[in-house]
Amino acid sequence: MAPDQIWSFEHRRIGRRVCFYHELSSTNDLAAQSDEPEGTVIVADYQSKGRGQHGRTWHSRSGVSLLCSVLLKPPLPLQRPVILTALAAVAIGDAILELTGVQARIKWPNDLLIRGKKICGILIEQARGTVIGIGLNINQSTEEFRSAGLIEATSLQILRNEHFELKFVLETILGALDDEYDRLLAAELIPLESDWKWRIGLLGRTVDVELLDGQSVRGRLLEMSFDRIELALDTGPILPIQPETIRHIRQVSG
Ligand code: BTN
Repeated sequence: MAPDQIWSFEHRRIGRRVCFYHELSSTNDLAAQSDEPEGTVIVADYQSKGRGQHGRTWHSRSGVSLLCSVLLKPPLPLQRPVILTALAAVAIGDAILELTGVQARIKWPNDLLIRGKKICGILIEQARGTVIGIGLNINQSTEEFRSAGLIEATSLQILRNEHFELKFVLETILGALDDEYDRLLAAELIPLESDWKWRIGLLGRTVDVELLDGQSVRGRLLEMSFDRIELALDTGPILPIQPETIRHIRQVSG
């Protein structure tokens, strides 16, 4: 399917080729089927079948969101979901800081929140290549979210009280992803791991960890790394958990 426009940013890999479409079913679907080179980005102004995590739909009207998918072909050790998730969430957090001056938190596994409100969702899918799907709220108003019943959402425009150009936001996001991916390919995992931990912001807190098998455990979050999450249970022992087995981590309030 021929793009409506082709853009190019002067990055190392991510964004050197950007295929823009006025309308697609889902940018993730097109990226997953594509034979384009690593770093190619598919962007749509509107998606008729946008998808979110856990089989949910992802809807946004035309002109207000960044809807894009980045095609990567990372080496095997970097294909772990926890690493790809950290790459995307940390880079987008850095880009949001650059655009607005505001720090975003990561809500496990890969939502970005500002003052508790969601600004970006990420959907990573792996088939022939790795696809990082990004849905970032750009120009929605508080009123628009309120009338859609989305009181827990925010946008770049709400944060800065100004209109953002889609192409400028895209370039900033892809630039941050390109930098982070370049570090990762140079096997520099430690800075990414510590930025990820910091943006999650739950170390030392009491949390509920919900596992993919449906079980839930409560404890104090002692340590987080890409290899294991350590939880001090109320009963004494320290429970190591493999990050890829975790569905949600939520702070226990109070
Ligand atoms: C979530 O928070 O549930 C993840 C949302 C991911 C939405 C983006 S929009 C661009 C890309 N294409 C899709 O169909 N989904 C992702």
